Amino acid sequence: MKVTVVGAGAVGATCADNIARKELCNELVLLDIKEGVAEGKAQDMMQTATLLGFDTKITGSTNDYAKTANSDVVVITSGLPRKPGMTREELIGVNAGIVKSVCENILKHSPNAIIIVISNPMDTMTYLALQSTGLPKNRIIGMGGTLDSSRFKYQLSQHLGCSPSDLNAVVIGGHGDTTMIPLIRLATWNSTPVTNYLSAEQQEKIVADTMVGGATLTKLIGTSAWYAPGAAGAALVESIVRDEKKLFTCCVYLDGEYGQKDICLGVPVTIGKNGWEKVLDFKLNDAEQASFNKSADAVRNMNEVLKTL
Ligand code: LAC
Repeated sequence: MKVTVVGAGAVGATCADNIARKELCNELVLLDIKEGVAEGKAQDMMQTATLLGFDTKITGSTNDYAKTANSDVVVITSGLPRKPGMTREELIGVNAGIVKSVCENILKHSPNAIIIVISNPMDTMTYLALQSTGLPKNRIIGMGGTLDSSRFKYQLSQHLGCSPSDLNAVVIGGHGDTTMIPLIRLATWNSTPVTNYLSAEQQEKIVADTMVGGATLTKLIGTSAWYAPGAAGAALVESIVRDEKKLFTCCVYLDGEYGQKDICLGVPVTIGKNGWEKVLDFKLNDAEQASFNKSADAVRNMNEVLKTL
């Protein structure tokens, strides 16, 4: 099994680190455009192999896509991260060109790869990756909802005083501060509704804090977060390479599911060796469906910007 992570910034390097620690592949390539950065970080990680006890061979490369040849899975993290006060959407102009050219280069050498998109604005970058490559829809997966759902479980765990691992909770819709939809009605604590244990005020706060989860960290750190984004990317790689068919919220191409067409948006999907395999219908109520439609409108407006670039 071979995996490539494009972009050796904080998110890409963390994703690669998680992939190696879990030995999700025998060959792992880290690629970046900045001379030496990917080589350096790959060597640094390789020097943890005996300390952490993994056998994955990590190689770094400065933009030599030949080194990525025959990758089974490729994670794209390239592009600018957001700075404090910026929205993910403001990155579209620069990142669209980068993501498009990365996809082209990757497919020249790995025509069968499954592509995971992390670059922002993630919903639009996923749509762009699909449109520009013409790949079968199941092979393009946007990571956003996986991250947002884990942030949602963190927020819930803080209020419930419980282990985040005992929670099931998903965020659907867009990966934007105003477009994501934490589905608190359906969230459970070991199969009982979390709403049984939380006041209306607590529920509102949890939802609001989840939605600005990324922005809160950007403000604290001074740049975009990387531990959870990198781990979320690696969790998707794991479900693909081990064909686990785990359920994640991912940004995928909708063709009528959840009442939407010609858009990539976050919905619950199973992830396995074929990429995203099945969309689950969570039977949204009217208010949730209305929020989903509003989120789709906002993402569609963002996708329209692609035509002007
Ligand atoms: C975040 C970025 C990765 O939400 O979108 O932290």
